[in-house]
Amino acid sequence: MKNVGVAILGLGVVGSGTYKILRDHREFYKETQGVDLSVEGVLEIRKEKALALGIEESKIYDNIAEIVSNPNVDIVVEVIGGVEPAKSFVLAALHSGKTVVTSNKELFCKYWHELEKAAKRTNAGLYFEASCVGGVPIIRTLIDGMQANVISNLTGIINGTTNYILTRMTREGANYQDVLKDAQKLGYAEANPSADVEGYDAAYKLSILSSLAFHKKVPLDKIYREGITEIQSCDIAYGDELGYTLKLLAIGKNGEKGIEVRVHPAFIRKDHPLASVNDSFNAVFLKGDSVGDIMLYGRGAGDLPTGSAIVSDVIYAATHSDVKYATFKNTQQAEPGVKFVNDFRSRYYIRFTAKDRAGVLAKVAGILAKYNISISDLIQKGEGCENLPIILITHETNEYSVRRALEKIGMLDDVVSVDATIRVES
Ligand code: HSE
Repeated sequence: MKNVGVAILGLGVVGSGTYKILRDHREFYKETQGVDLSVEGVLEIRKEKALALGIEESKIYDNIAEIVSNPNVDIVVEVIGGVEPAKSFVLAALHSGKTVVTSNKELFCKYWHELEKAAKRTNAGLYFEASCVGGVPIIRTLIDGMQANVISNLTGIINGTTNYILTRMTREGANYQDVLKDAQKLGYAEANPSADVEGYDAAYKLSILSSLAFHKKVPLDKIYREGITEIQSCDIAYGDELGYTLKLLAIGKNGEKGIEVRVHPAFIRKDHPLASVNDSFNAVFLKGDSVGDIMLYGRGAGDLPTGSAIVSDVIYAATHSDVKYATFKNTQQAEPGVKFVNDFRSRYYIRFTAKDRAGVLAKVAGILAKYNISISDLIQKGEGCENLPIILITHETNEYSVRRALEKIGMLDDVVSVDATIRVES
């Protein structure tokens, strides 16, 4: 039977989950895959962590050179995260001809072209299923299952931490800061939560996914990004009254005008398939020209779900001698001639506070009309108060028109403040 040696760089949550799956399923993979996957080394300076998992002392290393020079190691699994030292370790493994399997979305999103070049030089495999949407097999779906299609839309909830926070804010009317603290206590959110709550994590994943979906390099700097830190529970409640649920969406579209990529909070109708994706779950919705709509749903993080994606790549690499690389020209920047849409179209939820005076609404509506923005819903709260919150939803319009109109509305004497602008997606 073919024996394939695996090394795991980092025994954090995902590394430990990967080790457990490989250890516990070794016989199963022998039977079902015809391959014996043995863990030949782990790179971990906290030796006690490795020992606690039952790893032999002779297989615990504290420097990458010993792993990449070990002839028993065929596949290197990188689950350290971040750019350095992960990048140097991955390049060292690829330079010595070892196949790499990684869960590192930031590294992959920023240096995919460089890693792929290094891999091609030694004909090494480079696999990254675990980098996006944890255990949900979205990468293989895009590079295999959806290849027959021209994909025009990829919309997802691809960050579990923010989905957990927004779900709790929606269910309980709780405020952002309180739920964030709970999410940190439960281990969903990091002590420094900015990668998740500011939308960076989702943007890294969207860059990778939309590049694959649209067969064109979609660099991170082309993605419009907004996080959830400014979201107030009153807006979630007003949205609910109007029939909407709030989610942090990653949206990729490819149409006649070009590629449109954005990560931001958005209201979706309560009967939209993504509206019922709650807690730390993730889902991705794809539209292909032949297959139509499909949706993948599952856990986007965690030791065993992410370990599942990693081990599926390890098995693929161990059982396929041909290596698949990106299905587009993998340059560092977007290729010249590829157009990106910045002034995208959407509907908008706008909340502002106005003085309770005759004619305020007419002035606001007048400014909106000047920018060709038409109102579809309107609610006014707090009759009898000195200042009133007014909530309106527009018909579809352009992003830049809304920004310009809101600047003008904010300057009106009768408008105290423009408090929230949230896109509404259909
Ligand atoms: N922190 C991520 C999330 C998981 O909350 O979805 C890894 O990307």
